Amino acid sequence: MSIARLAPSQRGLTAQASPIRRLTPYADDAKRRGLEVLHLNIGQPDIATPRAMIQAYHDFDEKVLAYGASEGSLHYRQALANYYNGLGIAAGGGPIEPDHIIATVGGSEALLFAIGATCDAGDEVLVTEPYYPNYWGYAHLLSVGVRAITTTAASGFRVTAEQVAAAIGPKTRVLLISSPGNPTGTVYSAAELRAIGEVCRSRDVFFISDEVYRDFVYDDAVLQGRTTAPSLLAEPGFADNAILVDSVSKRYSACGARVGCVVTRNAELRAAMLKFAQCRLSPPVVDMLAAEAALLTPADELASNIAEYHLRRDALVAGLRQIPGVNAATPEGAFYLMVELPVDDAEKFCIFMLRDFSFEGATVMLAPGDGFYANPELGRRQARAAYVLQVPKLQRSCQVLAAALQAYPGRL
Ligand SMILES: Cc1ncc(COP(=O)(O)O)c(C=O)c1O
Repeated sequence: MSIARLAPSQRGLTAQASPIRRLTPYADDAKRRGLEVLHLNIGQPDIATPRAMIQAYHDFDEKVLAYGASEGSLHYRQALANYYNGLGIAAGGGPIEPDHIIATVGGSEALLFAIGATCDAGDEVLVTEPYYPNYWGYAHLLSVGVRAITTTAASGFRVTAEQVAAAIGPKTRVLLISSPGNPTGTVYSAAELRAIGEVCRSRDVFFISDEVYRDFVYDDAVLQGRTTAPSLLAEPGFADNAILVDSVSKRYSACGARVGCVVTRNAELRAAMLKFAQCRLSPPVVDMLAAEAALLTPADELASNIAEYHLRRDALVAGLRQIPGVNAATPEGAFYLMVELPVDDAEKFCIFMLRDFSFEGATVMLAPGDGFYANPELGRRQARAAYVLQVPKLQRSCQVLAAALQAYPGRL
């Protein structure tokens, strides 16, 4: 008689640990040993959350903390619709209405819903790599395959409409791009989004536009007169295939609020996503009130945050470029960059920094590059760095990195 073995699913066994978080036990250990760990591994900004948002938590005073509507409160969705229409998104097929929006548990759940509503098990999502690793994570959770178009610094980590056309396969149901991009900082122009969108439309492929870093664009030449990055939803003709993913996490430095949303003019997709939303009952009600308050953040407060990130970007790029053998392209937006390191294996090097190395009482945590690629070999000598610390800390991080590369036995 065979004895059944109690084992996790294959899906669970083959899921990948996040490259952004998987070295945390080494960092915790370094901190226990008294070291300062400079966290360039994660997009957790140190910028203050808007005061009005924090106040909204203090002001909550109901007797019962009840479930909310699965799609999010009408009040919040109306406020969001006003925000999107203020960005000029109405140009892409009429004003955004509250009905076009489902509030979610972070941009993360918006991604889950959008992939789940566009793909069945065995279908494929098309991404550009290096990609945000949770794209792979959510596709995997849904038994959806990932097809990746490899990009490099030489092309600004961008893809052309022709490359997208050539990469679409028989199982490709959706293209998923973040712009401004994590981890590359690439910002697609309106014309590029349009051209790529047209390919998707002509091939019956949906297009998920992950715009959680919309505000984080640093150069006038990239902005072309706008205040935020171009949005796919502002481009006419994509009402049926465009899906916008958004979040309060980065814009308002409120990653712990766990509020995002998914927006589409496609009613069938929304109906599908609403059923998913009903499964998880409700987005977090108090966080949604805080997210609504965040929408009133004065534009000059947001602008001064972006100016600070601009300084940080320039400081990190300049610092990295001074280190022999290190290559880093200047990102156009978001707050990350992929850095090429002169090492045999970036993960080993990252562990070395946390476990075996310190410089004047500090060390640096980076996210190893392999987890940002469908083919991990492509990221073997790369790491992602987030410029979410103040300039002096970024400069110190570069000093630590330079010293660690000198000391690392696997240096090339
Ligand atoms: C590109 C991108 N999309 C979505 C998310 C999800 O963010 P959240 O779930 O905090 O809204 C992140 C978070 O880092 C991200 O970088």
